[in-house]
Amino acid sequence: MMKTVSAAIPLFALCGLAQAFTYTVTIGIDETNGQQGIGFDPSAIRPSPGDTITFTYALPEYLKNPPPVQHSATQSTFDNPCTAMSGGFDTGVHETGWVSSSTGDSFNLVVNDTQPLWFFSSVGDDCKQGMVLAVNPPLSGDQTADAFKQKAMLSTSTPSATAPSSSSSPASSQPPSGTSSAAPTMTSPPPPSQSTNSAASHMAKLELCLAAVVAFIGVTVMAQ
Ligand SMILES: *[C@@H]1O[C@H](CO)[C@@H](O)[C@H](O)[C@H]1NC(C)=O
Repeated sequence: MMKTVSAAIPLFALCGLAQAFTYTVTIGIDETNGQQGIGFDPSAIRPSPGDTITFTYALPEYLKNPPPVQHSATQSTFDNPCTAMSGGFDTGVHETGWVSSSTGDSFNLVVNDTQPLWFFSSVGDDCKQGMVLAVNPPLSGDQTADAFKQKAMLSTSTPSATAPSSSSSPASSQPPSGTSSAAPTMTSPPPPSQSTNSAASHMAKLELCLAAVVAFIGVTVMAQ
């Protein structure tokens, strides 16, 4: 029996290794309706250390011949949502393409810890229109994904300006507009969100892996 258990341990370790996961964020999609728009889809994700964020400009196949639109995925800070963080990740400005024609560039960023990461689109007033992405945002307090979006939409700064940020009055003093947290009206059914799929397959993979380990132990026990 000792032998069985020790043989199973490397399998459990493999389950852990298999968990490194890719979160795909599509640039130029309004996540509330799945249509082309000023937004990241999804606009909030919770990757684990070691996971990869793939920023893609390739729009999904259900959009038929979408016109190319320029955006960026540029890292910022919570305090200055619409200003590029010095030394931060930046895809640069790119045009959206169509997955069916194999156009639309992709950029990967490996997540190394669970610290929040904040992103915006630096094109035009994308950011003021709420085109922001929160990675591992706090779920409560005054630095949530919603608070970040509100702050971006209230932002008066162009990417190079430095607006004074009053630390005593957080963005949450503004009443939320309700558009960001309201449930989308399902007039045209949006495609299943990538992140929901991701989370589901993440769990499925873990369960499969653990099932394999249990099966392995079972077979080994029966063989003895
Ligand atoms: C994680 O570390 C890699 C390698 O040092 C670096 O290229 C990458 O930018 C880091 N990721 C983040 C989100 O800072």
